[in-house]
Amino acid sequence: MFKLAKPTLVAAAVSASLVAGAVNAGENFGFGRTATAEEIAGWDIDVRPDGMGLPVGEGSVLDGEGLYEEKCAACHGLFGEGEGRWPVLAGGQGTLAQERPTKTVGSYWPYASTLYDYIYRAMPFPAPRSLTPDETYAISAYVLYLNDLVDEEFVLTNENLADVKMPNEPNFFVDPRPDVNNTRCMTDCADPAAMQVTGSIGGVTPVGHFMEGADGPAASHEAQHELEKKMEQERLKELGVEVEEEGASSGPAALSEAALAGKATYEQACAACHGMGIAGAPKVGDKGAWEARIAQGMETMVNHAINGFAGDAGMMPAKGGRSDLSDEAVANAVAYMAESSQ
Ligand code: HEC
Ligand code: HEC
Repeated sequence: MFKLAKPTLVAAAVSASLVAGAVNAGENFGFGRTATAEEIAGWDIDVRPDGMGLPVGEGSVLDGEGLYEEKCAACHGLFGEGEGRWPVLAGGQGTLAQERPTKTVGSYWPYASTLYDYIYRAMPFPAPRSLTPDETYAISAYVLYLNDLVDEEFVLTNENLADVKMPNEPNFFVDPRPDVNNTRCMTDCADPAAMQVTGSIGGVTPVGHFMEGADGPAASHEAQHELEKKMEQERLKELGVEVEEEGASSGPAALSEAALAGKATYEQACAACHGMGIAGAPKVGDKGAWEARIAQGMETMVNHAINGFAGDAGMMPAKGGRSDLSDEAVANAVAYMAESSQ
C-alpha cells in the first residue's frame, strides 16, 4: 500500500547516514537504484480492512467446505473446534470477558481482511502460500460460515470482503493514553540520587489461582483440569461437535488389567504420536492401521516398542524416546493401544 513511500524512505535513511561525509552525488547519492514496480509488488502484499490490496477473485462457502476439510480440518477440526492443541478457529463468542477467553476468528478478530491475508500468507501450516486467491476466498468464506457470520449461500469476493462485519470490531479502539503524563520540573526539583524507581508487573502471577469458581482458575491442578475439560466440552457442543458423555470410554468395553495399567503411560509417552497418527504412527482406535500389526502378535509389537524400529510408515523410537520407562510399562502401554484399536 505504501507504493510511493517505500523508495523515498530508503533514500531518506541513506542520506541521514551520509550527511557527515558530505557526499554530494546528486539525487541518489550514488547508492542503490529506484526499486522496480515488480520489486515493490513483491513486498506490497498486505490487505487492509477496507479491502485495499485484495486480488480480484471469489470463492463460495460451498467450495470452501471441501477445501477446508482437505487442507485445514486435520489441525483445526471439522467445525473449527481445533484438534488436540491446534488453534481453535470458531466459537467462543461471549467468552472474552471471562478469566480464560476463547479467542477465535469469530470471537476476537476485528476484520475479515486479516482472515484472507493470514490464510493466504501462512496457511496451511505445512505449505504456506500454496493457495490461489480463489481458494483463499472460498476457505475464508467457510471459516466465516463456521462462525455463523455468513450463510451457506454466501460467496466472498474482493468487492464484498470489507462489508463483512466482525462482531468484536467495536471493542478495538485507538489507545488514547499519552505516552508520558508528567509536568516537567524546572526549579527546586528532587535530587536524582534520592529517587527510587519502583514498578509493578500486573498480570504475571495469576490472581485467584486458589479460588474455586465458575470460570476462574480452580484450587488444584486436578480441579483445573476438570474445569477446563468441562469448558471445552461446552465449547464443542456449541459448535455441534458430538461430545462423548463423561465416563464413557472410546475403546471396547472391557480392557485387560495390563491395558488399564498402561493407559497412563500411553497418555504421557505415546499419545503425542499415536493419538493423532503423527509422522506415520498408527493412530490408536484406527482398526485398519492396527490389524496387521496386531496379527504379528504381542511379543513382536512389544519388542518393537521397547527397542524401536523403522517400518514402512516411519520411525518408532525405542520406548517412544522415554528410556526411563520400564519394559513392563511399555508392554502395558502396547496392550492398551492394541486393545483400544481392535
Ligand atoms: C499442520 C497443522 C495445520 C494445518 C493443516 C493448518 N493450520 Fe492453521 N494454524 C496452525 C498453527 C500451528 C497455527 C498457529 C500459528 C502461529 O501462531 O504461528 C495456525 C493458525 C491459524 C489461524 C490463526 C488462528 C488464530 O486465532 O490466531 C488461522 C485463521 C488458520 N490457521 C487457518 C488455517 C486454514 C484456513 C488452513 C487450511 C488452508 C489451515 N489453517 C491449516 C496449524 C495448521
Ligand atoms: C515420535 C513418535 C512416536 C512415539 C512418541 C511413539 N511411537 Fe510408536 N510408532 C511410531 C511410528 C512412526 C510407528 C510406525 C512405524 C512403522 O510401522 O513404520 C510406531 C509403531 C508402534 C507400534 C507398532 C509396532 C509394530 O510392530 O507394528 C507399537 C506397538 C508402538 N509404536 C508403541 C508405542 C508405545 C508403547 C509408545 C510409548 C511408550 C510409542 N509407540 C511412542 C511413532 C511413535
